[in-house]
Formats: sequence, structure tokens, C-alpha cells
Amino acid sequence: MRSNWFPILLFFIITIIIIQKIFDSTPHPEKNISLLDNSCWTGAGKYQISIDSTGKLILYGRNLIENTAYYLGPKGTVARISNGMNCQNCHLEAGTKPWGNNYGAVASTYPKFRERSGMIESIEKRVNDCFERSLNGKSLDSLSNEMRAIVAYIQWLGKNIPKNQKPKGTGIVDINFLQRAADPEKGKIVFQQVCEKCHGKNGEGQLNPEGYGYTYPPLWGDHSFNIGAGLYRLSRFAGYVKNNMPDPTNYHNPQLTDEQAWDVAAFVNSQPRPAKDLNKDWPTVKAKPFDYPFGPYADNFSEAQHKYGPFIPIKSFKIN
Ligand code: HEC
Ligand code: HEC
Repeated sequence: MRSNWFPILLFFIITIIIIQKIFDSTPHPEKNISLLDNSCWTGAGKYQISIDSTGKLILYGRNLIENTAYYLGPKGTVARISNGMNCQNCHLEAGTKPWGNNYGAVASTYPKFRERSGMIESIEKRVNDCFERSLNGKSLDSLSNEMRAIVAYIQWLGKNIPKNQKPKGTGIVDINFLQRAADPEKGKIVFQQVCEKCHGKNGEGQLNPEGYGYTYPPLWGDHSFNIGAGLYRLSRFAGYVKNNMPDPTNYHNPQLTDEQAWDVAAFVNSQPRPAKDLNKDWPTVKAKPFDYPFGPYADNFSEAQHKYGPFIPIKSFKIN
């Protein structure tokens, strides 16, 4: 009996070793990607979306992010509720790009409490925040096909991230503070030398040939984001620009120094842009971010210092 089993056992062991060897010698693309990207999260592309009915909704969501103006801009084919910008202008590559203000951590962290509104926000509410502020427009009905599609896409993108985790490379980077205040005059020179050729002399951007949206989106003026938008805060603007502008730039190869990023942020955000009633924002005053430019504050620093810095004293005041 015993001598009959031995060859069979040996056969199994050898088979397992062979399978293991074959598996090890095949390339594992996911390992290579994480090596190249220093483990930054990057989102799946559109060809990863399935072609069943759920996939169709997800793909529509992705199209809405990429081409918001076509569907929902001033000449929108579905509704006319936003300023002609695309979500993708700020959430680059349909919200998949490392440090490109991507959506990697949305599915894993929402619903969540946000100090700006003082309430627990769903993904729908957060998306509508950007419609009302970054796209200076109106909110979408939560039950509309468009909102369902956008949320389905965002959830699909972040589906592999464990609950409450925020992988490296998601959102916007926090760049180093300067010792001094950011300087709009210096920023104007950066703007003229680096940004103007695409975004226009007056930051007005450039309409696309079809005229329903932008080839180069506006940076200020009537068609830009309003004063309640995230990019109106200097740290958000500077962090976004540092790793992404001039287009195309990525975090492996930034083109601007930290100083240039802060200064150009100061210049652009000192130009005129649409207003917004911010009365209900930041109901808890001491929860306002260091770079929120509208008082009252829980400290004694001026609105100007909260807008342009220097920020280090403000940050240290909060810790004490
Ligand atoms: C003008 C730039 C801009 C545009 C256009 C824009 N957003 Fe945003 N969005 C931001 C900024 C800035 C943040 C906050 C990032 C931060 O604080 O780190 C943000 C945050 C978000 C978040 C939360 C991300 C997170 O990880 O918490 C979602 C979801 C979102 N936007 C969806 C959208 C959608 C959908 C659209 C199009 C309808 C859109 N945004 C258009 C700038 C923009
Ligand atoms: C080569 C052309 C080009 C240059 C130069 C350039 N940008 Fe952009 N910028 C773009 C494009 C295109 C987008 C939209 C990206 C997308 O939709 O994929 C964009 C988007 C932006 C956005 C977010 C959308 C908005 O309009 O608010 C900001 C902010 C921005 N650029 C700032 C800058 C700054 C500051 C500079 C100079 C340091 C700069 N850009 C230089 C082409 C450019």
C-alpha cells in the first residue's frame, strides 16, 4: 500500500513546482506599474469597463467627466447647467491620473463628514459641490441618469480600495510652504512666460473649434470657477499646478519650482471671478483651513495672510 502512494505523491509535488516556475516566469504587469509609479494609485482605463448594462452606465459616467460641456455646458445636449468646463479639466485623465486630483479615494472615504458644509456628505452631494462651485453652475438631481452614471463611474474606479483608505497619489499634493507670502507680481511673470500661450492673455482660455466647450479652459473671469471652489484656495491651486501644468506634466517631472507654483496661484486667484454666497460654509470657524481667504477666524491673522501666506505662522498657531 505504502509503496503505491509514494510515486503519486512525488508526481504531485513535481507538478506543483513546475506550475510555480511557469507562473513566476510570466510578467506581472501590476508589479511593474507600481515600481514605475513609486506605488502611486492610478485608475483603470475605459477599456477595463465591461460591456454589460452596468458597464454602459459607468462608461456614460466617464464620458460625462471627460466631456461635461457637451452634455451639460452652456450649449449642452442634455441640460444647460454649467460653465463650459469639463470635470476632467481639473480631475485629469477622467480622474485617473496620479496626483492629478483623481477620484481614487472617493469610493473608500464617502459618505463622510465635511467641515465645509458641517454635514455628512454623499458622493452625490460632493459631485454637486463641484457643479455649483468649480463649474459655477447648478446641481444635478440625485436620481437623474447623469448623476447615477457619474457616481457609478467614481465607485467603479475606487472599488478596489479598502474602506477609509486614501492611497498615495490620490487628490492634490500638499507642496512645501514658502517662508514668505506668495507674490501675485512674481506670479504674473510666471503666467506670462508659461501659461498665457494656452490659457490666454486675460486667462479667458480658448473655445474648442465646435464652440461648445474649451480646448484650453479659462483660469479667471465669468466662465471660470467661482470663489467657493477648491482651486480658489492657494494650496489647492499650487499643488494642482505643480504636478500637472504646463499641460502635459506629471509628478515624475514637474516643470515649476514650488515658488513659481505658489506665486502663479497668487496671481491667478487675485484676478476677478464669479461670486458665490458662502454664508453657510465652514459653520465651525476654527475648522477653516489655513488658506481659506474669508474671515471670521479663530486666530488673529488677516484675510490677506490667510489668502497669500506666509502660512507657517498660521499653521503653528493652530497646533498650539
Ligand atoms: C476647476 C476645477 C474643478 C472642476 C472643473 C471640477 N472639480 Fe471636483 N474638485 C476640485 C478640487 C480642487 C477638489 C478638492 C481637492 C482637494 O481638496 O484636495 C475637488 C473635489 C472633488 C471630489 C472629491 C474628491 C475627494 O477625494 O474627496 C469629487 C467627487 C469631485 N470633485 C467631482 C467633480 C465632478 C463630478 C466634476 C464635474 C461635474 C468636478 N469635480 C469638476 C476641482 C474641480
Ligand atoms: C500647453 C498648454 C497649457 C499650458 C502652457 C498651461 N496649461 Fe493649464 N491647462 C491646459 C489644459 C489643456 C487644461 C485642461 C486639461 C484637461 O482637460 O485634460 C489645463 C487646465 C488647467 C487648470 C484647471 C482648469 C481651469 O481652467 O481652472 C489650471 C488651474 C491650469 N491649467 C493652470 C495653468 C497654469 C497656472 C499654467 C502655467 C504655469 C498652465 N496651466 C499652463 C493647458 C495648458
